[in-house]
Amino acid sequence: MSEEFWPLVAEKLAEHGYMSGVERTIDRIRATGEVFTPSGLILEMLANVDVSIFSPGNTVLDPACGDGQFLVAAKWIKVYAFGMSEVAALCDLYGIDIMRDNVDVCKRRLGGGTVLMGDALRPNAALDGQTELERQMMASLFMEPGAKNRKKPRVAGTKPRKRRAAVGNSALF
Ligand SMILES: C[S@@+](CC[C@H](N)C(=O)[O-])C[C@H]1O[C@@H](n2cnc3c(N)ncnc32)[C@H](O)[C@@H]1O
Repeated sequence: MSEEFWPLVAEKLAEHGYMSGVERTIDRIRATGEVFTPSGLILEMLANVDVSIFSPGNTVLDPACGDGQFLVAAKWIKVYAFGMSEVAALCDLYGIDIMRDNVDVCKRRLGGGTVLMGDALRPNAALDGQTELERQMMASLFMEPGAKNRKKPRVAGTKPRKRRAAVGNSALF
């Protein structure tokens, strides 16, 4: 596969200033660990994994997504390297963050997608400012495979797709 897509992914990341859009106090940063991965490092890290992990249908979950540095890169790799539409690429992306404003910025940068306010370490915890839908989706996403009440969201009449997780974020865990 040609490597020509990397500058295009870099351009997309550069559309958002590093850690911009949200005022963060030192106390808040200490409490949440909000130091996002710089774009150059994102590109370097992702260039060192087998790009096929971003193939169509392979899901990408960042359970501590911040303002979406990894997810934005993942979206545009799916679009530029695999020819996916933006809508299809977004169907493969999942983000979670404990801070509402990060969730909002991340969603804005992605142009949609499943980005939830939630506590990835306590997925069933109800957070102030979390919507009921987010609470339900957090519980559903983190439920053990095979658990009795696991919801399998899918379009009526279609078979469930085989999904492989591509990238998690080890920055926090
Ligand atoms: C080190 S930043 C990483 C952000 C992003 N993954 C990146 O690499 O740029 C950690 C993020 O995790 C969020 N966070 C902290 N505790 C969390 C938790 N229990 N569940 C979900 N997100 C959490 C913070 O708000 C922050 O945005």
